[in-house]
Amino acid sequence: MTPVRVLAVASEVYPIVKTGGLADVAGALPLALKAHGVEMRTLMPGYPDVMRLLAGAAEIRRWPDYFGGPGRLLAGSHDGLDLFVLDVPHLYDRPGNPYVTADGVDWPDNGVRFAALSRIAADIGHGLVPAFVPDVVHAHDWQAGLAPAYLHYDNRPRPGTVMTIHNMAYQGKFARELIGAIGLPWESAFDVHGLEYFGGISFLKAGLQLADRITTVSPTYAHEIQSDEGGMGLGGLLRERASVLSGILNGIDIEVWNPQTDPHIAYRFGAQDLTFRAANKAVLQQQFNLDSSDEAPLLGVISRLSWQKGLDLLLEAIPTILAEGMQLALLGSGDRDLQDRYKAAARANPGRIGVMIGYDEILAHLIQAGSDALLVPSRFEPCGLTQLCALRYGAVPIVARVGGLEDTIVDIGEAGTSGRDATGFKFGPVTADAFAGSLRKANAAFHDKPTWRRLQLSGLATDVSWRNRAGDYAALYRDLMASRA
Ligand code: ADP
Ligand code: GLC
Repeated sequence: MTPVRVLAVASEVYPIVKTGGLADVAGALPLALKAHGVEMRTLMPGYPDVMRLLAGAAEIRRWPDYFGGPGRLLAGSHDGLDLFVLDVPHLYDRPGNPYVTADGVDWPDNGVRFAALSRIAADIGHGLVPAFVPDVVHAHDWQAGLAPAYLHYDNRPRPGTVMTIHNMAYQGKFARELIGAIGLPWESAFDVHGLEYFGGISFLKAGLQLADRITTVSPTYAHEIQSDEGGMGLGGLLRERASVLSGILNGIDIEVWNPQTDPHIAYRFGAQDLTFRAANKAVLQQQFNLDSSDEAPLLGVISRLSWQKGLDLLLEAIPTILAEGMQLALLGSGDRDLQDRYKAAARANPGRIGVMIGYDEILAHLIQAGSDALLVPSRFEPCGLTQLCALRYGAVPIVARVGGLEDTIVDIGEAGTSGRDATGFKFGPVTADAFAGSLRKANAAFHDKPTWRRLQLSGLATDVSWRNRAGDYAALYRDLMASRA
């Protein structure tokens, strides 16, 4: 195996900073790649949490003026992850969420903040750190989208570049005037074959246009984003670049998500003692103020509350949940309107609908361990991770038939034809009616104990780890290097 060095560029990395699945992927993939001969280091911004956790990191370079203020590049490690940290206080030393102010508004200088990250990624690509000269620079999402662009416009020998799309809905769109401020050549960069996007610029588009390879996080999503609707403005570009586009499914960290050792759940269990789930269910019901009943199927949700996740459809399905004698425990945060509507639903249905607004890792584990079924009614879902955790915890996924949900769950009705064992329920089209239909089907299956047990056991037997998926990334890097040699 030829050793490969890869610089990953990501704006969030679990367990240091996380707002969603991108962090989980950026945190788990480097560890899984080691077994495939890939040495990955990850570049991330020096947000306050990063600086706190990497207090002992070594300074590699220092600049008096990096995009308008002093800056440093640090190298260090945390929890087995090798990291480069771009410490530029005037850009990253801000409280709260990496992308938005306390009022939920994008930081006005996000363009400069993430251009700075990509600029340093390109410089490391050119050999800024002699101890780590990467063969490949791997950019995640729009925040890293300019890394392939800087490498391209620098016009020097460069490493190969990979752009991974975790979510087409976030495109990093800014006014064209930014081009000068971030040191890209106006003439060539403000072009339909560069950053130009409907008169402005887009960092994601830049990456998709200029990276050597494009990946996304499931084969079905790789297909969906080549349509006008799924591509959200970039479908045409992706159709043109289809020959370098592929979908590689996400895994989850099966150590972090392990019901046999999980410190966050009330009772640990494995495939042999699934009956212990009942004890977790009882604790979950207590925490969500739900009636204590083992007979009522408990539906769990762990999600950002956004249009993508289809949770307005779940609100419409509440009458079905009540009529079927089911319960709901929802943990999520996001859109104010959805938060308010869920709080109202919980007030109107005490004992039946439980809602926690917020972000809570520990509760997320308990929901996986204690709910009977886990719901993911997304309108689109590049991969989705909560349904993978559910498989590992014996919660039966009920999901929309889109993106990575289509690829990772085997519907009870398609098991015979696919040759794979059923692991859950899929519904389509993504409407409240179809969703309600699948909830009714799941309820019937829940009350047929052998059927339900079979679903749980095939879920538990499904490989949701990174092992093979990391191998696909390793093969992609090697293939890219060979094609550029
Ligand atoms: P996305 O990245 O689109 O939000 P994913 O399913 O890929 O969706 O990843 C979401 C990740 O964030 C999962 O690890 C999930 O457990 C976690 N998560 C989402 N919302 C919450 C929450 N409110 N509290 C705790 N964890 C959450
Ligand atoms: C995005 C997607 C989600 C995916 C995650 C990690 O946030 O919405 O489907 O699992 O990235 O790739």
